[in-house]
Amino acid sequence: MKARNPSKPLSKNPNLLKWVAKMAELTKPAAIHWVDGSQEEYDALCAQMVEAGTFTKLNEKLWPGCYYARSDATDVARVEDRTFICSLSKNNAGPTNNWVDPFQMRKKLKSLFKGCMAGRTMYVLPFSMGPVGSPLSQLGVQLTDSPYVVVNMRIMARIGLPVLKEIDKNEKRVVPCMHSVGAPLAEGQADVPWPCNAEKYIVHFPETREIWSFGSGYGGNALLGKKCFALRIASNMARDEGWMAEHMLILGVEDPKGEKTYVAAAFPSACGKTNFAMLIPPAALKEKGWKVWTVGDDIAWIKPDAKGRLHAINPEAGFFGVAPGTSVKTNPNAMASLSKNTIFTNVALTPEGGVWWEGMTDTPPAKLTDWQGKTWTPAIAKETGAKAAHPNARFTAPASQCPTIDPAWEAPEGVPISAIIFGGRRATTVPLVYQAFNWSAGVYVGATMGSEMTAAAAGTIGKVRRDPFAMLPFCGYHMGDYFRHWISMQKTLSESPRIFCVNWFRKDADGKFLWPGFSENMRILKWIVDRARGRALAKETPIGWQPRFDEVDWTGSDFTREQFTALQVVDRAAWRAEVIGHEELFIDLHSHLPKEMVYERELLICRL
Ligand code: OXD
Ligand code: MN
Repeated sequence: MKARNPSKPLSKNPNLLKWVAKMAELTKPAAIHWVDGSQEEYDALCAQMVEAGTFTKLNEKLWPGCYYARSDATDVARVEDRTFICSLSKNNAGPTNNWVDPFQMRKKLKSLFKGCMAGRTMYVLPFSMGPVGSPLSQLGVQLTDSPYVVVNMRIMARIGLPVLKEIDKNEKRVVPCMHSVGAPLAEGQADVPWPCNAEKYIVHFPETREIWSFGSGYGGNALLGKKCFALRIASNMARDEGWMAEHMLILGVEDPKGEKTYVAAAFPSACGKTNFAMLIPPAALKEKGWKVWTVGDDIAWIKPDAKGRLHAINPEAGFFGVAPGTSVKTNPNAMASLSKNTIFTNVALTPEGGVWWEGMTDTPPAKLTDWQGKTWTPAIAKETGAKAAHPNARFTAPASQCPTIDPAWEAPEGVPISAIIFGGRRATTVPLVYQAFNWSAGVYVGATMGSEMTAAAAGTIGKVRRDPFAMLPFCGYHMGDYFRHWISMQKTLSESPRIFCVNWFRKDADGKFLWPGFSENMRILKWIVDRARGRALAKETPIGWQPRFDEVDWTGSDFTREQFTALQVVDRAAWRAEVIGHEELFIDLHSHLPKEMVYERELLICRL
């Protein structure tokens, strides 16, 4: 068969063709490549990156179909201080987002993007967030000069020809996503393995639903379907259209009768979201017939169905997970997911052509090449503290490879959501679990959630950073209006999911964790599911409903009544201080704060 000419447009959509031509005129790429999304194309792009030094092919026997990339040392994470919400009015972006006048920003972007793809190929990458054709899905086209982005996006989203077919139907708005690593090549100039630019701009225009990203090739800065589209732009769409775009995992709990209850859960980063999404119950509960199924580990799009019940899809098709700390002990399902057809970025390389990261095994290999390409040994690490893998090293793995992937994970209508969980990392004050009294009390729990900072910076440890709904870096409009949207969503529902708060991280006076976490979290999840189904009891406390010791299934556990009581204490004095902490955030948002939040706070104070 004759090879396809990739510069030949794969779409007849006049708007798309016009936009591609206009952007090519601006960025001056050496070539244009329409992405069809095929395996052959993926293989060819990977081979091209191996040739260019961007990719290393891993040992096919150990890591079949896997590649390894090392980023530039200055391009390793999302850049929140370079992320902008350029709404027409500053007031719409709110105090928690960086705002620049859209007119000024467009001028700036025009100058940045002018000729920025010289010497490179501009890929035209059509993608669907959510299963192709699902009424809950959204369409985008990313123009990018990074083949690394194209192959990662093939794992993280649905891309290529089936998506173009949807676009050509002209039934749905398409979000234009402009991306460049910002490293044009002069005639004859040699490329580097990880091109990027010291100047970075991650820009969102919420009214026109546009994304412009410049200077970075890494993660959320560059895979524009994820945080930029599926959270920042989608939160705007969701507010306008009556649905919810949330930083939430989705899981299904199967009970011994084979009935499934789906739960969505929001946790700030570094709180074990991927682990929770792939939880394996303790043996004793597994034997009784309890099982957890994974729908998604990071983002949920949630919408009422025709009967007024919330249904959720995972808009992504892969896991972009943090590698360090992931092991067969902490998350065997993640390890199985990433065992093949995976792209690793900024982990360490073994002499056998495999990968390793801190926490993968108890004993590190004797010798590695670290994420910066330097020799690493346990002795060097001991002396210098050097990490073999960057703390934000990632795996990009197909969700379909997860052993617990839910059979309904691609259902076009989504899965019904019966409970919503908010969680954070709190050493004190917040108990292991409680249920909010009702929807608006639950919204208050989400609005006031926070995590203790774990950064080693002196003076910050233990300080609570408020991260409402785990959306602080991801809400594309005013956070106060976002709370209002949550409140108003209930009016569209015939049945509202029950809302819960969990804290796996409470510590005793000696700083020791009170709760073992991981698999044991299943016991709490089971109570949550039983509550949502109206088959578990609880006792009333000033903050909500809590299980008594006897209402949690302790089969196979020697956790004691005293230990549980310590975990569940609601200390009225600590909670009074906590409420004052809530006020700090509310003051920032006050002009847009829905009155329900003020009343909920008053009610909480009264109960305390
Ligand atoms: C992520 C994040 O990468 O939340 O998922 O930062
Ligand atoms: Mn996330």
